[in-house]
Formats: sequence, C-alpha cells, structure tokens
Amino acid sequence: MKGVLLLLTALVPLVLAEGDEVPEFVPFDKSGLSPASFFEQFDYSSFAESKWHPSKAKKDGTDGDVSYNGRWSIEPPHIYPGFLNDKGLVMKSSAAHHAIYRIFDSPFDNSHNNHLVLQYEVKTQKGLQCGGAYIKLLNADIDFQGFNNKTPFQVMFGPDKCGASDKIHFILTRRNPITGMAEEKRLVDPLESRNTQLSSLYTLVLKNTSDFEIRINGQVVKSGNLLSNPDLLSPSLNPPKEIVDELDIKPEDWDDLEFIADESAQKPEDYDSNYAVSQIPDPKVKKPEGWLDDEPEFILDPFAQKPEEWNEEEDGEWQIPIIKNPKCDFGCGKWEAPLIPNPKYKGPWVQPVMENPNYKGEWKPRTIPNPYYYEETHPTNLELIGGLGFELWSVEPDILFDNIYLGHSVEDAELIGNKTFLPKFELEEKNYVVNRPKPVVPPSPPPKSFDELFEEDTLMVVQVFQFFKLVFKNEFLNMKDFWVQFNGAPLDTLLQDPLKAAVYSGVFVFCFTFVFGIINVVMYMFSGWIQQAKDAINQGAAEARGESNSKQEVPKIVEINDDGEEVNVTSAQVSQTRTGRRKTRG
Ligand SMILES: *[C@@H]1O[C@H](CO)[C@@H](O)[C@H](O)[C@H]1NC(C)=O
Repeated sequence: MKGVLLLLTALVPLVLAEGDEVPEFVPFDKSGLSPASFFEQFDYSSFAESKWHPSKAKKDGTDGDVSYNGRWSIEPPHIYPGFLNDKGLVMKSSAAHHAIYRIFDSPFDNSHNNHLVLQYEVKTQKGLQCGGAYIKLLNADIDFQGFNNKTPFQVMFGPDKCGASDKIHFILTRRNPITGMAEEKRLVDPLESRNTQLSSLYTLVLKNTSDFEIRINGQVVKSGNLLSNPDLLSPSLNPPKEIVDELDIKPEDWDDLEFIADESAQKPEDYDSNYAVSQIPDPKVKKPEGWLDDEPEFILDPFAQKPEEWNEEEDGEWQIPIIKNPKCDFGCGKWEAPLIPNPKYKGPWVQPVMENPNYKGEWKPRTIPNPYYYEETHPTNLELIGGLGFELWSVEPDILFDNIYLGHSVEDAELIGNKTFLPKFELEEKNYVVNRPKPVVPPSPPPKSFDELFEEDTLMVVQVFQFFKLVFKNEFLNMKDFWVQFNGAPLDTLLQDPLKAAVYSGVFVFCFTFVFGIINVVMYMFSGWIQQAKDAINQGAAEARGESNSKQEVPKIVEINDDGEEVNVTSAQVSQTRTGRRKTRG
C-alpha cells in the first residue's frame, strides 16, 4: 500500500511536466476520405520522397523571361509552431519567383454536377507585405514540367497582397463552347486576406447549385450564387447577348450638331464703338477755361544769352535753356478728359446660337445578336484537373502551406479542419501567448510633482529617492527665498514667520556643526598621522646613530633642582636648562 502511494507521488510531477510538453504530430487518417479526393499533409521524411516538383520553366513575362529560382522545402514551421515536427511546404527564398506542382495519381473530375471543395492552410511566418499565397488547380492536359504563370488552370484561389492591394483571389476559368476560347472570370469584389504568423485555413466551396462560399478558419466570410448575380465575376459568366455591329458606320450626312449659329441676328453698326470699348473719357470733366490748344507747354527761353565766359571747346556747344511756357497758366497742348469704365460695356460681339433643326442626335453603331453567346448553366462543371501548384512571387520568405484538400465533400473538408487545423491552431495560440514579442514600453518621464509621485501604484526605490530629491529641492528653494527676504527686511521676516526662522537656523546650526565636526575629525586624524610620521622619522634617525631602538620612549633623566627635589624632565629640557645655567654662570 505504502509502495503504491510512493509510486503515485513520484508520478505526479511527471504528469504535470507532460502537460507543458508540445505533443508530437500525428498524421491525419485519410482512409475515411472519399477515394476521389486528394489530401496532402506533407508527412514526408524528405523532400525527395515527396511528389512535389519545383518548376524548371521560366516565367512568361513582358520584362524578359525570369526563372523560378525560389527554393522550396518541406519542414516544420519555426515561428509559433503547433505540433512537434508537423511539416509543411515552405517557400524559402525572399523576393523570388517560386513555382512548384504536384501531379495527382489520377485526375480530379468535377464535370458531373459535383461539389468542388478546395482547402489549405497558409502560415505567413514572416508576415506578408508583398507576396502571393494562392493555389492553382491545373488542367490535366498541360505540360507540368513547363508550369509557369501562363499555364492553364481551372480554379485559382487564395491570398495575394502587395501594399494596399490585398485580396483573396477566386478565379474560375470557363471555356466558350462556340469560340473554344478559355476566359478567366475573377471575383469582382474580393475580401482582404487574413495572413498571420499563425496558420489560417482557407476554404473554397463550389456547389453544384452554383452557390459558392469562401471560408476562413471555418467561418463563411463570402458567399453568393454565380448564376443569379451577373456582376459577381468579371467578365460575367454569360457573354453579352447583343454586341456592337462593327460593320455599321456613321452616315456622311449625319448631323450631330445640337446648336448652330443664329444667322438672323446681325451685329449692330454702333456695337463696337458703344459696347465693345471698356473705357471712355469722363463726360463730366470739362476742358478748363483759358486752356490753349495751340500753345506748346515748353519753349526756348527767349531771354537767355550765352554767358561771356562760355568756352565752346571746354564746355561744349551752348544750348538755349528750355522753360515752361509762361502763357500756360491754365494748361496748353491737346486736352484729354480722364478715362472711366464704360457703363455700356458688353464685351466683343458674339454670334447667338439656336437649336439645329436638322439635329439627329448622337450616332451609335447598331447592335446585333452576339454570335458567340452561350448560356452558362453549370459553372462548377470543370474540365479535368490533373494536379495543383503554387506559382508565386513573394518578398517575404517562409510562407508555409499545409493540409491541402481537394474533393467533393464539404463534410470531409470540415472534418479535416476539425482534426488538423483546429488543434494545431490552439497550440499555436498558446505558443504565441508565451513567445510573442513583448510590447516595448517607452521609458516614462520622471515624475515632476508630488501628486504625480503619489499617483504611482508601487513606490520603488527610485521613487523614494526621487521623493527626497524633490523635498530637498523645494526646501532649498524656500530657504533661498527666505534668505533673500531676510536680507531685505530682517526683523519683519523674522516676525512674520518665526517658526521658519527657527527651523532654518536650526538646520543651519546643525549643518554648521556637522560640517565642522567632520572637519575636526579629519584634522584630528590628520594630526595623528603627522605625529606618527614624525616619530617614524625620529626613530629612523636614532637607529642610524646606533642607539637602542627597543623603546620609543625618551629616556628619563632625573635631576635635582635648586630646592633639592627630584624632577623628571625630557632630554630636550635638560639641555635647555643646562645652557641656561651655563649662561648664568658665565
Ligand atoms: C467540426 O466541428 C464543429 C464544431 O465542433 C462541428 O459543429 C462540426 O460538426 C464538425 N464537423 C465535422 C465534419 O466533424
């Protein structure tokens, strides 16, 4: 009994630890799926073992042929993975053209009023700014090795984003039975893609009722009926019933002028002089009396004479000076009234127009029945599909595809989603919660006031420090103010605020004492060091003279003084007294 308990206790931590471990990938059991369906979960041990082949073709483009040099890999995701070792097909290169295809073991036939369900996962591990992640269901009769952007497909579906252009494509290829020409009909109003670093499940359902659905992560995000809404796809599924007759030409005598000049209206004779001049002389202003029309305004001075000292050689030819005509007190010359705006002004004359009595309206070529018209009845009955492929450009690398399903069963697709995508997505979400980039918190500016300080929830050491700093700063400023005030009017200041005065004096005395105390201590220690240094020097000197160094003390000398008493003196004192005595004796 005791042993079982012990064993249980030992097992508990193991079980707990297991709870945190990521479960290993277990392949989905495809045996329950219809044999006509295709399911790919990339559970290969190596790329070579898979049936996926990178295209060796070149892209058929306007700017020369570009080769598909983007690298492919079958590997587990490295960002927010779900199950351990759950591999997918990964576009490895950045800013590269990628193309890869997979030929079905037997072609997929959706020509007999079946549903078509296409489902796959996209995980844009590095996000998606500019790149495609759509899939193409390729015609059976194509050259797969030459798979490129011009290879015919029956359905194209999936996300495609570049900057502001962001859509989930849905393109259906329909062949006109009369012309034999295939035409790509694309969804006019596509949704925006939903690419995240976690997996997204994209599902396209084409029902034999011509209803379609686009689902993301199992949720229907767009739906409609292909036949009942002619504007859903462009060009529309049915060609126009009537077309413009290209052979119809405009008759020579077709009069399409709506208005013509009204020849009955003639320009009045006086129009130009009366109505076409914008300015006229002001009729209210009269010529001043005494104005002389024939007198010039300036004349040669009749009284001027060449000065006697004028030297033609030095000063040049002498000219008679011009003066104002003395007769022109009221004005001379041609008189003109000032100009004012013409009140009758209408602008240049314009020929009036009238309706053209021969007007026949705008010419349009006639329409005729479209010889290539056909009525689409089963848009989901497709041509044989031989395989599928990805033909993509992407700036971001590491787009991962997984769990591709193509079949006739919505249920099968849902089951696959329930069994593969949902548990994986749950693990990815958990992983994301733990490993997502932590938001960068910008450093908060230091608090500026006490209020701000007290608003903080936790009082950290820094804040305490900040608090005291603030206290001292404020108090110092107060003290400075007080000091200035005190210097201006000492008595008033003291009487006004005796408490402050007392506190500040106290602080001052305290600081003073404190500082001088420290200085004293320092001095004391310093003098001690000096004494020690002196002693050391003395001792060194004594040693040099060969004296005993056993005792540092100065030897005591006993002397009898004049009164016959024994006195202890130092040797220095002794020598002093002796010289003194010698002097007295001498
Ligand atoms: C998938 O899961 C949903 C929700 O649990 C459930 O309603 C649905 O029946 C499941 N579908 C299949 C085919 O298992």
